Amino acid sequence: MNILLIGSGGRESALAWKINQSKKLTKLFITPGNAGTSSFGENVDLPINDFETIKTFVLKNHIQMVVVGPEDPLVNGIHDFFASDNELKNIGVIGPKKIAAQLEGSKDFSKAFMERNNIKTAAYKTFDKNTLEAGFQFLDSIEPPYVLKADGLAAGKGVLIIDNVDEAKAELKEMLTNSKFGKASDKVVIEKFLKGIEVSVFVLTDGESYVILPEAKDYKRIGERDSGLNTGGMGSVSPVPFANKVFMDKVEKEIIQPTINGLKKEGIDYTGFIFFGLIKVDNEPWVIEYNVRMGDPETESVVPRIKSDIIELFEAVISKTLNNTTIEIDERFAVSVMLVAGGYPGEYQKGDSIKNIETINDSFVFHAGTKINNNNEIITNGGRVIAVTSYGNTMIEALVKSISSAEKIEFQGKYFRKDIGKDLL
Ligand code: AMP
Ligand code: GLY
Repeated sequence: MNILLIGSGGRESALAWKINQSKKLTKLFITPGNAGTSSFGENVDLPINDFETIKTFVLKNHIQMVVVGPEDPLVNGIHDFFASDNELKNIGVIGPKKIAAQLEGSKDFSKAFMERNNIKTAAYKTFDKNTLEAGFQFLDSIEPPYVLKADGLAAGKGVLIIDNVDEAKAELKEMLTNSKFGKASDKVVIEKFLKGIEVSVFVLTDGESYVILPEAKDYKRIGERDSGLNTGGMGSVSPVPFANKVFMDKVEKEIIQPTINGLKKEGIDYTGFIFFGLIKVDNEPWVIEYNVRMGDPETESVVPRIKSDIIELFEAVISKTLNNTTIEIDERFAVSVMLVAGGYPGEYQKGDSIKNIETINDSFVFHAGTKINNNNEIITNGGRVIAVTSYGNTMIEALVKSISSAEKIEFQGKYFRKDIGKDLL
């Protein structure tokens, strides 16, 4: 079968690597992809939110399945576009329709969904510019720190956690009346701060049944021991030792099942990944957020632990036969370390040549912000450049291998964290 994979990050590199191993694959196209994805398929440069252009390509190249990496095209309705088009409607799409994509695309929608379905999440209220005063009063009535979330997609920047009430009020006003995050902050969710440790849990679902993928923990801060600015993710580890059987049974019973049942009850058809951003508070799992895609950089440690054929899993999603499907998981640890450009997450340089990738034999090299220039050299093309993932029988063994591989790869200003997973030991 011919597959089109949408996206260009480390997540898509890991997915492309896995799809490319399937015995069911005829040809994989990745759009737009990066320098690394071109070793697993053919990169094509399509505008990923221009569905008519994607349609032309899909028909011309006899694509039978579309796997959507990032949330944007899902929130914009790519699945709905395929489902309502006579020539496309039989092509499988991995990723939910627009209505379900609101679980990620609207914090207000997702909080209300959780409340309706008795899924544990922080208490909240939603405000808009007409209810700004009520928002101020609500802030006065709760304890710091204050968690303010832009309702819509804000490229991962729409969540503010603030200690001081006056500052929180000023930010609320900026978001609602001065469009701090554009239209995304036309509504703002204010919620109670939860103190605990986070874990990312993933399922693949056909809307009726689901398989649970390996869980992971990601590391968002630029500095070691979680210091400094937030980033798009500096590494990940899977499995997560504290997410033991007792905890994961609770996650399944109290969060995964009520979510799938809630979607069914509300008549929302769902085919694709659900990413549960959870926080463990006194051994209880609470939902911080839903995403309607895989996580990045979690995918870079999760996908290498999936032993099953991923196209077979996707086919079961599309034919809604996931209840007859089991998933085989590699017991080993996978630790993924992200190599970033100097200066990131502030200003950084692009276009530096990357050396020694071919010398890595103990780890997987998943490209993120890379491209091939006119001289056929691999160069940096983003802040997060390459994820290096290794297996180990212990977390430390996997981490040490990833660090050693990360040290070999060279580019101007390269930086990476050497403590991924260490907080869990
Ligand atoms: P979100 O985009 O909702 O995942 O929020 C981004 C990050 O903010 C999360 O990964 C958490 O680290 C933090 N966060 C969000 N909501 C809360 C909350 N209610 N309590 C504590 N931390 C939170
Ligand atoms: N790693 C968090 C995310 O993908 O949103």
